[in-house]
Amino acid sequence: MTLSPTLPQVQTRITVTGLTKVYPQPRAPLTALRDVTFAVREGEFCALIGPSGCGKTTLLHILAGLTTSTSGTVTLPERRPGQLPTAVVFQGISTLPWFTVQQNVEYGLRLMSVPRRARRERALQHIRQVGLLPFADAYPHQLSEGMRQRVSIARALATDPDILLMDEPFANLDEQNRLLLQDELLRIWQEHRKTVLFVTHSLDEAIRLADRVLVMSASPGHIKTEVVVPFDRPRDYRAIRQDPRYGTMSAYLWDVLREEVLRGRQV
Ligand SMILES: Nc1ncnc2c1ncn2[C@@H]1O[C@H](COP(=O)(O)OP(=O)(O)OP(=O)(O)O)[C@@H](O)[C@H]1O
Ligand SMILES: [Mg+2]
Repeated sequence: MTLSPTLPQVQTRITVTGLTKVYPQPRAPLTALRDVTFAVREGEFCALIGPSGCGKTTLLHILAGLTTSTSGTVTLPERRPGQLPTAVVFQGISTLPWFTVQQNVEYGLRLMSVPRRARRERALQHIRQVGLLPFADAYPHQLSEGMRQRVSIARALATDPDILLMDEPFANLDEQNRLLLQDELLRIWQEHRKTVLFVTHSLDEAIRLADRVLVMSASPGHIKTEVVVPFDRPRDYRAIRQDPRYGTMSAYLWDVLREEVLRGRQV
């Protein structure tokens, strides 16, 4: 298993250095992240795993500008006109129930003041890409959860972000739909080559999707280790699962994670 490989020199899209987040809480301040340092390269698909409560969502919120850090630095690409640096896909229902699929996908573009016609065209293009064109005028409650999750992905991609932040986007789905959406995400990612930071609790999902898996420690979270996933793309799920490296990698990740999960429980 390659733990510190030589990778081609490409631009870094996310650089996080010494990031610490302390939440003020009624009894005592809570340190959610302590000295988190890592980088993600342009076009890289990076998975982030770690015990529950270790600060993964907090980290994504800081990267998305939804909350501030207490100390440390985050360097993201400059905002370009008509484009957001990051877009977020959250777990579960993040569609707006009073908007149709198309209005949901247009929402980010409206915030960016994209003119109406261009907005419509871009939204429809992304709705088509996630296979929901026949449902463009449907409301979220008329869709299955997997379809709603596809709306969230289309909405995020429509804003053409440099970076896609995904927080357990498939956690609420059944196994079959999860496998299908993973395929879809990989297909879309291969086409757009966005830089992706993907939070998951599933080791299988991390190994299947990512170029590299970052493992966080128990709270307060920091990056404990990272593993490079050696499989070529496009990936054949069945083939990689039969590859002996898959088992080795999965066992290694679980060993590291298990230790942290147990440590987190003792707090
Ligand atoms: N807005 C907030 N105010 C105060 N404390 C918070 C806030 N958001 C999160 N926390 C605390 O920060 C810690 C990290 O939470 P966070 O949601 O980032 O973890 P997580 O790794 O995403 O967990 P999970 O895997 O369960 O989603 C937790 O102890 C949580 O209670
Ligand atoms: Mg979370």
